[in-house]
Order: sequence, then structure tokens, then C-alpha cells
Amino acid sequence: MDNRPIGFFDSGVGGLTCIPYVMRNLPNERIIFFGDTARTPYGSKNIDTIKEFTMQIASFLKRKDVKMIVTACNTVSATCLPMLREHFPDIPIIGVISPTSKVVAKSCTREDNVGVIATKVTVASGEYEKKINKNNPDLNVFSKACPAFVPLIEEGIIDNKIMDLTIKYYLDDFIKENNINVIVLGCTHYPLLKDRIKSLYPDLEIISSSKEVAVAVEIELKKRGMLAAERSGENVFYASDITDNFVPMIQRILGKSEDELNIRFKNVDNEY
Ligand code: DGL
Repeated sequence: MDNRPIGFFDSGVGGLTCIPYVMRNLPNERIIFFGDTARTPYGSKNIDTIKEFTMQIASFLKRKDVKMIVTACNTVSATCLPMLREHFPDIPIIGVISPTSKVVAKSCTREDNVGVIATKVTVASGEYEKKINKNNPDLNVFSKACPAFVPLIEEGIIDNKIMDLTIKYYLDDFIKENNINVIVLGCTHYPLLKDRIKSLYPDLEIISSSKEVAVAVEIELKKRGMLAAERSGENVFYASDITDNFVPMIQRILGKSEDELNIRFKNVDNEY
């Protein structure tokens, strides 16, 4: 048993979409979340820059004495896991791509055409194709980078025509040309678009990386005997910049009011 918190981080608010699944499945676990809202998005940046930011945040979480780090960001998961595991060999580091790929490989057949939508960096890494096809070589996997989604979501532009047009701009031809019937939300921001995508393409099956990583966290903690025996304190949500949208987004995703949440501003220049 281990009552220390689990550290989650993302480039912004997207990684928050993993948290409700963790809270539901593992109510004893304490969560420390860090959203790098000052420097989002990561998905179109140089890999060395992403690695630098990732090391800073993982070190911050490590100083908070977390028992596990979850890279609740596909872009970081695609580029930084070997580096993180080398630097922090004493704690488990869980990414989002492996657990999601396993579910895709298991639940789809060769009749399916799987479309992975993600950031530019995640798509360029080819990690989803590699991991899905490693587990199921017969599957047809297509990828599409959708770089405008994250900045719009961080601005709270979600439930409106601008987002619908952006979704159609990226997905209409992609779905038609490749006969896609399963879409993988390969970015933890994208579950916030799930209802819009579903209403535009009702026949699509949608698989979310945010849901699958929560299952992987539970399996890993159980395997290592590291589940929390009891709740040892409040969850804390850090942001490198408290943007207009950070608090409303936490409220929207977690369904709680600001008073019920422990939200802290972490100035990037201060402690990194
Ligand atoms: N949530 C991150 C991901 O899963 C978003 C990346 C970005 O900041 O562009 O990839």
C-alpha cells in the first residue's frame, strides 16, 4: 500500500479528461495535476523543447513526492517516455499510447478502418501505428494531425459552429477517403470534442486515450501493491498560468465548483 499521490501532467487542460475515470475507479487515490497552460500547445513544437518542458514538470511532480507519474498527454507519451524512465527509475511512469493501442488492437478486426487523430508530433512519431500493429498486424490504421483543435479547446471554443467547421475541415475527407469506422482520440484534449464528433458522424465508434490510461493506472498500481489504503489529502490542480479557461474547464470536466477544488497557480519562472 502507498498513500502518496499520483502525478498527472499535460500541456494544458486536456489531461484533466483522464481524471474523472481515475476518481471513479480509484477513489482513495490522491491526485496532483499539472497543466502547462503557459506553454500550450506542445503538439506542434520541436521535440527537444517538449523534452525540456517535460523534464521540468516531472521534476516538479517528483518534488511533490508522487508515487507514479502519468503523462496524460499523447504528445509527451510519443516522445519522452524513455527519457523519463531513465531519469526517474524509482517510480512507474505511465503513458497514454500503449494502453490505448492495446484496446484498439483487441477490440478491432481486419474489417475495421481505424483513424487516429492527434497532434502533429504524435502523428509524426508513428507510435500509434507501431503499437497497434505490434498487437494486431492485420489492422488498417490511418492517422490525421488536427493541430487547430488544441488551441481552440484551450480557448473554450468547443460547443459552437467554429469547432464544427474545424472538425469537418479535418475529418470529412479523412473519413471518406479511408472509409474510417473507428476513431481513436489520440490527444487527451479531444474527449472534449467527443459529443460534437459523434453528432457530425453518428456511425463512428470512438475510442478515447483518456479512458484507457485510467485503466492502465489501476492495473499497474495493483500489480505493484501500490494502491492507496485510504485518502490522504485533497487533490491539487496546478497550472503554469491561470488562463481564463483553466478553472471553468476543470469545473466542466470534474463537475465541481471552484470552492470544492484546490487550484494553484504555479509560476513557470519561479521554481523550475
Ligand atoms: N493533450 C495533449 C496530447 O494528448 C495536447 C498536446 C498539445 O498541447 O498540442 O497530445
